[in-house]
Amino acid sequence: MQRATAFFTLASMFAVGLLVSCASQGSKRPIEINTTPAAAFSPPAARIDPPLMSDDAPRDYDGLHNVVAFHDGIYSGSVPEGDAGFDALVALGVRTVISVDGAEPDVARARQRGLRYIHLPIGYNGFNDERKLELVRATRDAQRIGPVYLHCHHGKHRSAGAAGAVVASLGWRTADEAVSRMRVSGTAPGYRGLYAVAAEARVIPASVIDAVSADFPEVSRLQGFVKGMVEIDGAFEHLRDIEKAGWRTPPDHPDLVPVAEAGRLADLFRLLADGDYSQRKQEEFTQWMRDSARISSNLEVMLAEEPLEIGRLSREFATLTAACKDCHVRYRD
Ligand code: HEC
Repeated sequence: MQRATAFFTLASMFAVGLLVSCASQGSKRPIEINTTPAAAFSPPAARIDPPLMSDDAPRDYDGLHNVVAFHDGIYSGSVPEGDAGFDALVALGVRTVISVDGAEPDVARARQRGLRYIHLPIGYNGFNDERKLELVRATRDAQRIGPVYLHCHHGKHRSAGAAGAVVASLGWRTADEAVSRMRVSGTAPGYRGLYAVAAEARVIPASVIDAVSADFPEVSRLQGFVKGMVEIDGAFEHLRDIEKAGWRTPPDHPDLVPVAEAGRLADLFRLLADGDYSQRKQEEFTQWMRDSARISSNLEVMLAEEPLEIGRLSREFATLTAACKDCHVRYRD
């Protein structure tokens, strides 16, 4: 254990050294993955066993969970946790991290290690062609300099859906293979929209991919707290209808996926808790946001499991409803 820690420290010092030496060559522009010659950035070889296509279960590393290979050097998993998570990425040889989660990526820790971050958030119920093309181009270009790690929060649903859609759209894997890797990641069957983007992916011609702008953001911010609350309200209303239908898709609203609505709510609360608006408020406010994120996350987990525990679901939902009211009384109305 001791030895492993020392090794990681050494590995990260090496990565920092690499970054500093590149920075001292006086380049101020952001790293452009298309034009950086591979030789200038000779990627450190993987020092811990990377996940393999032959794995039939996800791997866990220090600070990284649920890691699954979707192609050689294309991994999906959880958000990297602290220094350990980013050190593990370096040790896996990863060069580019693509977040499809709503939350703001830990860009500072990534930069310290010479990793590039790209932030392209997606929804819980699939994503449109425009976002798919961006993810395809970002992954294809990034892969040329080394392994790519795609993550969401838990690394089970959205990052797996994104990775599946990407490898199938690039023709690196068939759509069937992509879907079976999503099953290895543990993507819940309820995420029909996510499965559909991978299952229905067709190989995209290079000319179409090349036409997509490669100017990807390191961080995409949700525009403002109020907009976030409006989105929270939308997901909350959907869950209310879902509760009335016995925690199933309401017959008059067949497009609603219960687990996806709860996941979106959790994501939005986490996002707002970390945002400037909450940070300027008292500690209690941020804590309230985090509590609401945790309750929404519990709902998400419960809605992904069969048989549904109706009573527990409704109790958790009542706690969430009370939290909306309590916070509004104190901070809004
Ligand atoms: C920790 C505090 C907090 C929690 C929890 C919270 N809200 Fe809010 N919400 C606010 C604040 C503060 C505003 C006012 C923002 C402003 O106008 O600047 C607001 C505004 C709103 C608005 C009005 C947006 C508009 O168009 O002006 C809606 C709708 C809303 N919240 C719904 C919800 C729902 C539904 C929940 C629970 C699922 C919830 N909120 C939970 C703090 C909270």
